[in-house]
Amino acid sequence: MKIYILITFCLFVFSHSNYAQTKLDVVVENKIDSLMELMTLEEKVGQMNQYNGFWNVTGPVPEKGDASSKFEHLKNGWVGSMLNVTGVEEVRKVQKIVVEESRLGIPLIIGYDVIHGYRTQSPIPLAESASWDMDVIKASAAMAADEASATGINWTFAPMVDISRDARWGRVMEGAGEDPYLGSQIAKARITGFQGEDLSAPNTIAATAKHFAGYGFSEAGRDYNTVDVGTSTLYNTIFPPFMAAIEADVKTFMNSFNVLNGIPATGNSFLQRDVLKEEWDYQGFVVSDWGSMAEMVAHGYSKDAKSAAESAANAGSDMDMESYLYVKHLKNLVDEGKVSVDKIDDAVRRILRVKYELGLFDDPYKYCNEEREKAVIGSDKNKAIALDMAEKSIVLLKNENQLLPLKKKGMNIAVIGPLAADKNSPLGGWRLAAEDNSAVSVMEGLKKYKGNKLYHEKGVELVKGKEAFVFEIDINTTDRTGIAEAVEVAKNKDVVVMVLGEHGFQSGEGRSRANLDLPGLQQELLEAVYAVNKNIVLVLMNGRPLTINWADENIPAIVEAWQLGSTSGDAIAKVLYGDYNPSGKLPMTFPRNVGQVPLYYNYLSTGRPTYPGDDLVFWTHYTDEVNTPLYEFGYGLSYTEFTYDNLKLNTNSLSKTGELKVSFDLSNTGKYEGKEVVQLYIQDLFASIARPVKELKDFKMVSLKPGETKNVSFTITTKTLEFYSANNIWESETGDFKVFIGGSSTTQLASDFTLND
Ligand code: NOJ
Repeated sequence: MKIYILITFCLFVFSHSNYAQTKLDVVVENKIDSLMELMTLEEKVGQMNQYNGFWNVTGPVPEKGDASSKFEHLKNGWVGSMLNVTGVEEVRKVQKIVVEESRLGIPLIIGYDVIHGYRTQSPIPLAESASWDMDVIKASAAMAADEASATGINWTFAPMVDISRDARWGRVMEGAGEDPYLGSQIAKARITGFQGEDLSAPNTIAATAKHFAGYGFSEAGRDYNTVDVGTSTLYNTIFPPFMAAIEADVKTFMNSFNVLNGIPATGNSFLQRDVLKEEWDYQGFVVSDWGSMAEMVAHGYSKDAKSAAESAANAGSDMDMESYLYVKHLKNLVDEGKVSVDKIDDAVRRILRVKYELGLFDDPYKYCNEEREKAVIGSDKNKAIALDMAEKSIVLLKNENQLLPLKKKGMNIAVIGPLAADKNSPLGGWRLAAEDNSAVSVMEGLKKYKGNKLYHEKGVELVKGKEAFVFEIDINTTDRTGIAEAVEVAKNKDVVVMVLGEHGFQSGEGRSRANLDLPGLQQELLEAVYAVNKNIVLVLMNGRPLTINWADENIPAIVEAWQLGSTSGDAIAKVLYGDYNPSGKLPMTFPRNVGQVPLYYNYLSTGRPTYPGDDLVFWTHYTDEVNTPLYEFGYGLSYTEFTYDNLKLNTNSLSKTGELKVSFDLSNTGKYEGKEVVQLYIQDLFASIARPVKELKDFKMVSLKPGETKNVSFTITTKTLEFYSANNIWESETGDFKVFIGGSSTTQLASDFTLND
């Protein structure tokens, strides 16, 4: 404690001099140097050790019942961080042990999975991504940081920036979808939202870009499975959001569970040292994923726990989350010369740097303010931010005969489905600190509009027996007893709102699916209701793209409502009644058939891309399904109509130092005021490696009143055209390009240009 006070005092004097104002980095580095001179090897290794609290478990527990030894380790200064300790009281308790009882009193950094909110839940990240609205996504992350920091947390394991093309993978709910450009913009928005302008402010928290790298490409969409990708996919698809995260000054990275081309990411020095720390010059630290160091033994990469610790440390994993390997083996590995002191020092320096930047050395209890905790958690202001985010995340997939928006008066409406009155599933996965059953249900949201009469029936239960928050969801596939009652209620109603989809815990970590249909008996329910009343608005709640071909063919209106968080039902009601005109666009392709997966818009052409009309089978296709998706990336309707025309390029010849202006007219030709996300795609026609048939390169949100036209423009430079080429560098290559404009990846307008030297 005494030494801690002395250091803090000296550092305070330094950091408040004029020198500190202008050369903050140098000062922080000097502070770290002075502190590290005082540290023993055990204390350094301690900084690299992260323990779980005992309140919340987000992975398999390696050693049960060793709470007392964890407390001993805190006192000895052998713990640098804890996760899953929440609430000012609990955080203060553990912080106090290290600050007052350990020799140097180096404060803990407290981590937590603040994925889409803390107590107040925003929509799941995939849903937020459907808004394509960076300001609102940023505000949502800032709201989450505000609440989390008020409970003592100063570090979130978010955003997950893994690109994924496979809807079977349960964790697509946690990411930004399939596109590296959109994913990069969203990564930056989330990180700047969490970290704010000033990381040392009490309402901002450090963010984590995870999982480095390739986790979203697990074979067959099965979580934790093998990842094998080539250089181009790694650099051109997987890496860009991580690079964007560094641009946004993300403070930490998390590595991933998977092997990447045979080597576990946690022990992968190509990823963590060569690319991240050298090529990208990253100065933050890398935390392992939960137990991923120990798992290198199961991968068949490390012969035992000790050699796993050696590989992880040498490969650049700076902090061990819940493998207990660094604390057990790292000192011996250094003594034996298997891990160098320089590598330990580098890791510790990175960890201490983030602690300084958070201001934890100035005041280790700065996030421990009971009054703020009470005022901020679940506040009305935060709910309003979540509601704004939720409305903007909804995607209108179909609206035949303008069935939507609903009339506000004089209608009899049946509200049917297992999710219609559900207050829990809308919270989605990864909502550790939310109160169970705290979301506004669709029924509750609709009831706030008093002009219509509502009649509710579940029809079928989604889960068998009592709903349990367990990892295996027991889906009802046999109990049909409620279908007849639902059919009875649906008869003779003006409209039926059916709320169907996935249970809130059917997506997320460890929840891959081999089937993407509506789970359980919901399809049967939908068809039975349709037989008596075709005026159906289908509201989908799901954590991933689903295969809903029958609904698309038969149901007149379909609203993709994902899992929208605490205010879900209010947002859905506002959209159904037209108080918010939907503006969301899909961040991920909806396949027609699970057999098409991975299915994504930015695929490479093949040598046999289209049917040549010769009655022969030798072209790329299925014999039992078309190649196209049900709903493409970037797709989403509005209650109004938009038309695109008058595409102009200021030149068809772009030089490497020049700019190309692409402009077009966007008109609102419908009856409602609305917003359209206009999208710009390019195609590099010939290059040193095959390039995608289309790549998103820019987008804008444009608001238009009925009858209004706006001229919209984008600028293309050589930077826009860069990719990781056959020369293993980022460069643009001269030659011919196409540019496309539209309201989805099935674009409306196209033109050509050439890039010259
Ligand atoms: C495992 C998950 O993969 C990771 O994303 C999460 O942050 C950690 N568990 C901690 O809960």
